Amino acid sequence: MTLAAALEAAVGPEHVLLDRDLRASFETDWTRRFTGTACAVARPATTGQVASVLAACAEAGVPVVVQGGNTGLVGGGVPGPESGDNRPVLLITTRLDDLSAVSPAARQVTAGAGVRLAALAAHARAAGLDFGVDLAARDSATVGGMVATNAGGIRVVRYGSMREQVAGVEAALADGRIISRLDGLAKDSTGYDLGHLLVGSEGTLAVITRLRLRLVAPEPGRAVAFIAVRDTADAVDLLAALRARLAGVSAAELCFAAGLELVGRYLGIPVPLAGAGGAYVLIEVAGEADPLDDLLAALQACDQVLDATVASSASERARLWQLREAHTEAIGSAGVPVKLDVSVPAGRLAELVGRLPEAVAAAGPAAQLIVFGHLAEANLHVNVLQADGEAATGAVLALVASLGGSISSEHGIGRSKASWLGLSRSQAEIDVMRAVKAAFDPLGLLNPGVLFPAASARRPA
Ligand code: FAD
Ligand code: MLT
Ligand code: ZN
Repeated sequence: MTLAAALEAAVGPEHVLLDRDLRASFETDWTRRFTGTACAVARPATTGQVASVLAACAEAGVPVVVQGGNTGLVGGGVPGPESGDNRPVLLITTRLDDLSAVSPAARQVTAGAGVRLAALAAHARAAGLDFGVDLAARDSATVGGMVATNAGGIRVVRYGSMREQVAGVEAALADGRIISRLDGLAKDSTGYDLGHLLVGSEGTLAVITRLRLRLVAPEPGRAVAFIAVRDTADAVDLLAALRARLAGVSAAELCFAAGLELVGRYLGIPVPLAGAGGAYVLIEVAGEADPLDDLLAALQACDQVLDATVASSASERARLWQLREAHTEAIGSAGVPVKLDVSVPAGRLAELVGRLPEAVAAAGPAAQLIVFGHLAEANLHVNVLQADGEAATGAVLALVASLGGSISSEHGIGRSKASWLGLSRSQAEIDVMRAVKAAFDPLGLLNPGVLFPAASARRPA
């Protein structure tokens, strides 16, 4: 039996795409920087079907690239050049979209890996709860992809990243076996936590097919402030001052004039407080009751505040959030950016922001730098337009490493940073990670080229 026939037997002929035009929309990533060619696209609907696809590919010795919502920003969910003419099967998880009834007692739900974040959040809210992770790609990103990249988003300061929301994992291994622990037990010490090994594994260890996810109590009272401050150092100090005064800080984001101007042009809207500050902070406070008065009082008491606009109605809050959340699309509309998602110790954030222009100058005279990010985690999104990708990546990641930071805060390593993994992980760690990969995927068929530098590569200088 040919591989195509085996795939059609596994998922049904209508869910195997062989024609180039039908495959094309799945073969290029969201940033348009990474693209490749698959031999087929397969769209399984159950864990069993995923396992059958994997067993067929293992039998044929054909690589597999896993894709959820294809909103990843590091090139991990599309075919790469590594497989040469042994082109991979692109396994799309979006048909794995079952959602169990919410368990109010456990405050948990079981979701298929292909469930979109927005659908999960709506399902939780309909049951009187909420989901702790939120990000601007909510309509497309899948919970499987978010676990595979350990996605962060705008609420990490309140609920942590995806890792903290995972109570159980079901996955199909490269040889077609299935591992499953979805009971969501509050306590379970029975050996290695294989499920949590898959958090952040970026499709290189197994295909996550279902997840048991923790839910959180709703916080109906919300207020948002968009604040002009002198510079990054004052933004860091302002957040510390506000957190000392306010219990319910649920988001703290950082923007600068260059990104806000691009957003204003992209959306065709005026940017509030334009010219008022050297940096801008978006703070959201949430709780049972309306926190607006507390927020206003706290802002009054903080001398880092140069000017501020505050919102408590849903529509006004959304208008302020749009200033921050539209950055990704606005930058993408200006070109194909080199996107670097990095974090440094909070006390080094101002130094990083100050030294980036010099670092990026190495990437070409026309290089345009736009930064923004998640202030609460000192997580900066460094976007460079009109630049040499390798030069920009090397210069920025070396600077981040020199400041004791991480070369990837929430997007993962993917293909885009695999060559620089040694800046954030020791050779011993990389060796052990390779041993874990070999245990899960001995034939090296899952997402070749993702996460790990080429075998020959040693730690970057
Ligand atoms: P994909 O892009 O399809 O895949 C991502 C990686 O996960 C790939 O390596 C893929 O192989 C692997 N994968 C996917 N599904 C599975 C599975 N079921 N089993 C095993 N491996 C799998 N990210 C953040 O962390 N924080 C943000 O604030 C944020 N904001 C964003 C805003 C915009 C506008 C966009 C476009 C992206 C943003 N992202 C953000 C990035 C992206 O949404 C996340 O990386 C998300 O986790 C990707 O989910 P996905 O389903 O699109 O995965
Ligand atoms: C964000 O925080 O908006 C995302 O991580 C996307 C990006 O980095 O562009
Ligand atoms: Zn982000």
